[in-house]
Amino acid sequence: MSTSIIGAAVNRVDGPLKVSGQAQYAVDHKLENLAYGVGVFSTMGNARVVRVEASDAQGMPGVLAVLHRGNTPPLYRPAERLEHSRAGEIRPPFEDDQVYYYGQYVALVIANTLEQAQAAADKVRVQYDVRKPAVLLSEAPAPQGPPRVHSTRGDAAGAFESAAVKLDETYTVPVEVHNPMEMHATMAHWEGENLTLYVTTQGVLNYQKVLAEVMGIPVENVRVISPFCGSGFGGKLFPWPESMLAALGAQHLKRPVRVQVPRSMMFTTVGHRPLTQQRVRLGATADGQLVSMQHDVVQPTSMVDEYVEYCTGVTKTLYACENVEVRQDLVRLNVGTPTPMRGPGAVPGLVALESAMNELAEKLGMDPIALRLKNYAETDPGSKLPYSSKHLRECYQKGAEQFGWAKRNPKVGSMRRGNEILGWGMASAIWDAGRGGATVRVRLNSDGTARASCATQDIGTGTYTIFAQVVTEKTGIVLDKVQVVLGDSTLPPGPTSGGSTVTATVLPAIAKATDQAVQRVLQAAVMTPGSPFFAPHGTQAPKVAMTNGWVHEVDKPYSSGVPFEEILIARRLAALDGEATTGPDLANRERYAFNSFGAQFMEVAWDPGIARLRVSRALTVIDAGKIINRKAGTNQVLGAVVMGIGMAMFEEAIYDPRTGKPINNNFADYLVATNADVPELECIFVEYPDYHLNEYGARGIGEIGLAGVAPALAMAIYHATGVRVRTLPFRVEDVLGGERATIV
Ligand code: MOS
Repeated sequence: MSTSIIGAAVNRVDGPLKVSGQAQYAVDHKLENLAYGVGVFSTMGNARVVRVEASDAQGMPGVLAVLHRGNTPPLYRPAERLEHSRAGEIRPPFEDDQVYYYGQYVALVIANTLEQAQAAADKVRVQYDVRKPAVLLSEAPAPQGPPRVHSTRGDAAGAFESAAVKLDETYTVPVEVHNPMEMHATMAHWEGENLTLYVTTQGVLNYQKVLAEVMGIPVENVRVISPFCGSGFGGKLFPWPESMLAALGAQHLKRPVRVQVPRSMMFTTVGHRPLTQQRVRLGATADGQLVSMQHDVVQPTSMVDEYVEYCTGVTKTLYACENVEVRQDLVRLNVGTPTPMRGPGAVPGLVALESAMNELAEKLGMDPIALRLKNYAETDPGSKLPYSSKHLRECYQKGAEQFGWAKRNPKVGSMRRGNEILGWGMASAIWDAGRGGATVRVRLNSDGTARASCATQDIGTGTYTIFAQVVTEKTGIVLDKVQVVLGDSTLPPGPTSGGSTVTATVLPAIAKATDQAVQRVLQAAVMTPGSPFFAPHGTQAPKVAMTNGWVHEVDKPYSSGVPFEEILIARRLAALDGEATTGPDLANRERYAFNSFGAQFMEVAWDPGIARLRVSRALTVIDAGKIINRKAGTNQVLGAVVMGIGMAMFEEAIYDPRTGKPINNNFADYLVATNADVPELECIFVEYPDYHLNEYGARGIGEIGLAGVAPALAMAIYHATGVRVRTLPFRVEDVLGGERATIV
């Protein structure tokens, strides 16, 4: 059995489909008699809908319906915690006559063509009773209710008081928006009592559950199909209103309806990373031992739902410190409901924590890596459990070596290259390593091919390829002959693509299902007349194995046997299936703490003559266990670093305080990192298989590459310019000492 395919740099098995245009987005599926729904969105952030005047729109060419609260049956609420299902926003569209945020659905116009629906949506007039919205943090009423997070160990406040060296700073991460290439869209199709949804999603099974709950029908009546996805980043974890309205519209018209969220509304009705204001207090001894850590977060949620951005988890676990207190409070604003965005909680949390550590290092006159090593957590400080596998120390060391950290002159503005001043920074990265449950079916076909299927989905990360790799590794059937079928709720249950958990979750199930399918072929080999290994009743069966897709006697070379399909043909079988379910391995969860780690090193080049600030080098060292596909894995990390550069330097949704409208709700004004903003990126894996998590030793890798980018850049900017920036994004005007428009 060859194992070389695991860990190799493997091209995506879906790559040829993608580059030839055969891989379609879910809603590009062709349906007869399709109608198009276009939203009418609130233009006010806080109001009551007095009247929806739709008669003009209703009379326009091709218009089939204008649905609103006044003419549709109410939708049910999703069951959420009661059923382990989750919607983006617990309030279904049209539930009441209140407008809670700009961009909320007030009506849905459905027409024969998209253009007709758009034209008619413009003609729907909504009369509002308008109130002043609160969209800035400074306008929010004080936090209500208990803190959503409050945890202590030791006496953080007392230890801070008596600490020799203290740091007390506040960091702000603004609202960031996912903005995947493929915008949210759903196509809903009723056939009698059965609803089929073609949808772009990170979780077909959760989608199926939520839409069944909202429509009030049994879950088996709903099928969700999502074969390819133009990325998600968390915004597509849970269903949002457009899907519910597509289902409602299709039910009303008795014909399929497609609803597409326009780019402008990708900023309002499908979630975002919430603004967080984070105060960090660190206390240390004069030689850099942390004696106290306090992390307090204030964060807006919407008026209609609660979402907690769990920034303080990292503070409890990253460093060995006896006295820790963290607290998070929520305030309510007239904004849409926030949702997870790549590395939720940890990524903005590390902006604060790792920036604070770098500032503390300077106060102490210590190298920032030395400070981290001084406080290195050998066991998890929160749970006191040993780590399943932790090699963060090696990440720091390898990164420092590769980056040339020893040549660093810590003095501000001291490192030059021509007209430019170079700034260096570093930060740690940490992310949870989860594993859930999955069922996988593997089929070995009599034409010599294999098929693996599961109701998880590939959101662009390489999940299809990992399935094929494991089947190939286990059977020797070449990659080209392994078909992988994902993204359909009728398949055996599989995980949501979230939290960097899919790889660790599906690997054991694929392996077990493949083993089972192979065992069945081997059984058939000795049970089937016409098979070269047939052992008639009462005779000793030879011991057989499968290598390179051939069945052979174990102690003879594989080429002495026959291709596996000949066994199936001899028995006149189309195929043999294996199916296996593997779980989250809860027993191990009680014995070990599971995390992935990393260290990130960034360089900026500051040219004061022309006020140009650029990221000029980016090195990431990751400890995520065994890397199953070096190519897709590297791609995940580098993509996350690009996102980190966008987060640090450009991204920020800015709201108009009068209406609650995100005024930069387009790609011209909401800046993301382009190729010109991104230098050569380098990624090194420190590869220690984590066998406590699964037999391949693989942990997730989708999110961790983002974790330390922004705080490392904050340090680099300070090193180059002498300006400490504590509010993202870091802009040239901050460095020039100008006034910055307030967002909080
Ligand atoms: Mo990720 S924020 O779990 O898609």
